[in-house]
Amino acid sequence: MKNSPLAPAFRAQVAIKCVAIVGALLAGVAQADSPQRVTPLPKYQQECVACHVAYPPGMLPAASWKRIMGSLDKHFGTDASLDEASVREISGWLQTHAGTYKRVSEEPPQDRITRSQWFVRKHREVDPQIWKQAAVKSAANCAACHTAADKGSFRESEIQFPKGLDARFRRGWPD
Ligand code: HEC
Ligand code: HEC
Repeated sequence: MKNSPLAPAFRAQVAIKCVAIVGALLAGVAQADSPQRVTPLPKYQQECVACHVAYPPGMLPAASWKRIMGSLDKHFGTDASLDEASVREISGWLQTHAGTYKRVSEEPPQDRITRSQWFVRKHREVDPQIWKQAAVKSAANCAACHTAADKGSFRESEIQFPKGLDARFRRGWPD
């Protein structure tokens, strides 16, 4: 009889653990496919969206994020400097959540997501000339085609043919 009052509590604990494990597994699976199941860092959403979307941390390896955050004064031809505390906070968070998408581990040239092998593979159906069109501007301008890129979502159903883009680029386009 000694452990009977403990039993319900113990059972509850086991149940909580199971939920936690299943939750972790689901999060892992979700992360492999939709890169931003990670709770966004408010500071990142504030400081890194002035010129482009907040790229999902899982799309680059930790070493790439570290280099990017260590050279913000020379950031892809512009100055994206921040105060030291913000740099530390954002850099730590990016590195913690780095490299979860499509087995990201290679450090791409120039630490560019757009130079990653998986990126090139995912976009091999689109005409390479597409990136230079005025309606797109750059491969780094994800939001030109991925309508939910600002939320870190890149599902195929959310891809839209950019307004004003020449119809010849329709070839190989999913919608
Ligand atoms: C002042 C504008 C500006 C700010 C602020 C800024 N960036 Fe950028 N970022 C750029 C430009 C310009 C590029 C190059 C875009 C291109 O090639 O079309 C770029 C490119 C990038 C890329 C590479 C994209 C690719 O080609 O795959 C990453 C990663 C990136 N920025 C991360 C960040 C992070 C993290 C922050 C916040 C600490 C940040 N950026 C803030 C202007 C900015
Ligand atoms: C010019 C339009 C365009 C731009 C800009 C663009 N993409 Fe894409 N993206 C596409 C198209 C079109 C596909 C689908 C290709 C296919 O299905 O063959 C795609 C596919 C993808 C996929 C795979 C989606 C899936 O479910 O299979 C990911 C992830 C992705 N893009 C991420 C990005 C990121 C990150 C950026 C910015 C750094 C970006 N894309 C910039 C057009 C674009």
